[in-house]
Amino acid sequence: MSERFTKGMARNIYYGGGAFFFLLFVALTVDTVTVLPKRENRELLTAEVAHGKEIWEKNNCVGCHSLLGEGAYFAPELGNVFQRRGMENEQVFKAYFSAWMKAMPTGVEGRRQMPQFHLKEQEINDLAEFLIWTSRIDTNDWPPNIEG
Ligand code: HEC
Repeated sequence: MSERFTKGMARNIYYGGGAFFFLLFVALTVDTVTVLPKRENRELLTAEVAHGKEIWEKNNCVGCHSLLGEGAYFAPELGNVFQRRGMENEQVFKAYFSAWMKAMPTGVEGRRQMPQFHLKEQEINDLAEFLIWTSRIDTNDWPPNIEG
């Protein structure tokens, strides 16, 4: 038997490897698409949550903050702000969030500043609903740090 690496062997590796990784890709895609609806709690989506997301986008909160890791790293991650500042209690969080939005900018020397957005009570409520919904997405406990 020859020790040479033949064109036939190279072709088999090329097609075999290609087919293997293509099938792996299809399997992982199917897995993602089946698991996703359970992880993101679609059934909890309300009109308020959707409206909150609109306000989030219109005011470019993501220009300074990250949400589940996506966005800018100027200001804190907000995917877990419900757990961090609201102790997972909706009333506590809404009271904190409303006070926070109204107190901006703090003007505290040496701290980064967040602008005043002049949002209405309903808009603040819906933004809070959006952040609460986001915090309940199953992210495999990411971010690992509550202050993250
Ligand atoms: C120009 C940048 C900027 C934009 C835009 C911005 N923020 Fe902030 N935000 C900050 C900074 C900086 C802080 C931290 C301030 C501090 O700790 O004193 C902050 C803090 C927060 C906090 C408190 C987080 C915590 O862990 O205590 C919340 C909640 C928040 N922002 C919500 C929002 C929302 C909602 C929007 C969009 C309507 C928004 N921010 C837009 C800069 C921004």
